[in-house]
Amino acid sequence: MSKQQKIVAAKAGGPEVLELVEEPIPSPGPGQVLVKVAAVGVNFIETYQRSGVYQVQYPFALGSEISGTIEQVGSEVRNLKVGDRVATSEATGGYAQYAVVDAQVLGKVPEKVDLRLAAALPLQGCTAHYLMHSSYMVREGDVILSYAGAGGVGLLLTQMLKLKGATVITTASTQEKKDLAKAAGADYVVDYDQVPQTVKEVTEGQGVHAVYDGIGKDTFEMSLAALRRRGTLVLFGGASGQVPPLDLQRLNAGGSLSVTRPKLGDFLTTPQERGWRFGDVFGWVAEGKIDVRVGQEYPLAEAAEAHRALEGRKTTGKVLLIP
Ligand SMILES: NC(=O)c1ccc[n+]([C@@H]2O[C@H](COP(=O)([O-])OP(=O)(O)OC[C@H]3O[C@@H](n4cnc5c(N)ncnc54)[C@H](OP(=O)(O)O)[C@@H]3O)[C@@H](O)[C@H]2O)c1
Repeated sequence: MSKQQKIVAAKAGGPEVLELVEEPIPSPGPGQVLVKVAAVGVNFIETYQRSGVYQVQYPFALGSEISGTIEQVGSEVRNLKVGDRVATSEATGGYAQYAVVDAQVLGKVPEKVDLRLAAALPLQGCTAHYLMHSSYMVREGDVILSYAGAGGVGLLLTQMLKLKGATVITTASTQEKKDLAKAAGADYVVDYDQVPQTVKEVTEGQGVHAVYDGIGKDTFEMSLAALRRRGTLVLFGGASGQVPPLDLQRLNAGGSLSVTRPKLGDFLTTPQERGWRFGDVFGWVAEGKIDVRVGQEYPLAEAAEAHRALEGRKTTGKVLLIP
């Protein structure tokens, strides 16, 4: 039987626990297909799984976001065939040359979208989509604060917010990142310590309608303070660490505020919901309404380097592994 290369986290720890292993290419069961992986999206969640912030069983096969071509189709699969170009944010063990995936979680990649680029979209694109349509529904004219405007989610979220007609305040830590965030359409791109003053000036002291905070520990207090009366804080990650417990009474004192802590899996619950988000995101890219930036590509065997760069704030846009 032919073999493939795959990356696993041998135990909880730093990037050095990522190991390249060889194993047989798996076969698809009923309702599944075998995908020959073109590119793998690297995401922060894999650093949480690798480091032990999220509970997983080791050795753990990382990787949920892939694009590729269908190589084999299992029984009971009706909507897909060999040769179809597909992508998903819901694979398991995607840091690999091949992955067996449930057919129902795969979306077809439009002809106009490059297959490698397609690995940059399912997770971060659908996240940006649900954040602004479902966690807090953004309306035209809203003032929105989000962080890491040159990041994977950040670049996509800004562009989607601008399509909706919102005013976007965002942050970035270097001039290069600031230029990228600005080019994506952000109205105000500032250092993190300039956020309170910028929010005050832009909103004439009212505060923003919503904050999308994927930084967590270092920004949470600033996010709460930036909200207007009845504003919403969407805490969707902890790039700087996890937020400590919150006294709910503070939401009352702050002006009837809302805080939510969503995850993508709860916003891709049915084929219809998946199709809606996937269709919008890939459609906007195919139509040229949003631009996707792949900042870094690494060979599969260098997954540890990719994790170091992501955790070390060295990346912009999407980070891909190429098997
Ligand atoms: N809940 C969900 O459904 C969901 C789904 C996808 C992603 N996420 C979360 O969204 C966040 C962004 O993910 P991403 O993949 O798009 O990453 P990313 O934004 O491309 O990379 C993280 C960025 O965060 C900024 N940052 C600020 N403080 C940091 C610190 N102490 N350590 C590391 N980075 C720091 C850095 O930008 P600057 O240098 O410009 O500050 C860094 O480049 C992550 O927290 C991730 O877990 C959540």
